[in-house]
Amino acid sequence: MLKITQLTKSYDKKTKALDNLDIEIKKGELIGFIGPNGAGKTTTLKIITGIITADQGSVEIDGHNLATEMIAAKKSFTFVPDHPEIYESISGIDYLNFIADIYDISIEDRQKRILKFSTKFQLEEALGKKINTYSHGMKQKLLITAALLPQAPLFILDEPHVGLDPHSSRVLKDLMLEHCANGGSVLFSSHVLEVVENLCHKIAIIDKGKLIAYDTLENIKKNKDVSLEDTFLEMTDHE
Ligand SMILES: Nc1ncnc2c1ncn2[C@@H]1O[C@H](COP(=O)(O)OP(=O)(O)OP(=O)(O)O)[C@@H](O)[C@H]1O
Ligand SMILES: [Mg+2]
Repeated sequence: MLKITQLTKSYDKKTKALDNLDIEIKKGELIGFIGPNGAGKTTTLKIITGIITADQGSVEIDGHNLATEMIAAKKSFTFVPDHPEIYESISGIDYLNFIADIYDISIEDRQKRILKFSTKFQLEEALGKKINTYSHGMKQKLLITAALLPQAPLFILDEPHVGLDPHSSRVLKDLMLEHCANGGSVLFSSHVLEVVENLCHKIAIIDKGKLIAYDTLENIKKNKDVSLEDTFLEMTDHE
């Protein structure tokens, strides 16, 4: 579903934000992407989604090379960025219909999906209101709903649980699992190790631009009695 090979990226001459990163995600897999602040998570996700380009390496999404088959590759995923930035002066429902138009989603399908996701996220009443009246969490849920509308094979999210209340966070976790159960794949970054530990099929750990682990929770933890938090702190200890 996703294959990134030898991704390397520098923002300046001194340091590599990403250094030879390889990750492969299969159909149906739910992958948690963790690492200290500044490790390179957002940089990786921005390269996969074509927002920025890598200095070296390649990205293949659902069999489409991002550089040579950009439109097909971009149709194969949706992305929820870490800071919700949406058109503030339109209503939530207008925004969702705009996204549905871009992705050519039929009226019947969009109505069904908008009703399903907005009900789960308790957004139905807000959809008629302008986005500039929404709280941070409401904007986040609108963005997640918009990203789920096309039902694209790969669902990518950058720190999606930040700002979500416990109910919405649970809804998101269930929707991620559902997406994978339906044959899609999910890649999300997070600092909430408890969520990653309980939810993901595999965990990718990045530190200073290098992938230092990519495996199941059981294989990453040295023994079953330690938490992911302890393992993570030990693996990324720079002291
Ligand atoms: N636009 C930019 N210009 C220059 N350097 C940048 C830029 N964006 C990121 N960096 C640098 O690249 C490195 C990786 O940053 P990135 O945002 O990918 O980290 P992250 O893992 O997402 O961190 P966080 O957990 O804080 O979100 C950092 O050293 C950061 O300073
Ligand atoms: Mg980040």
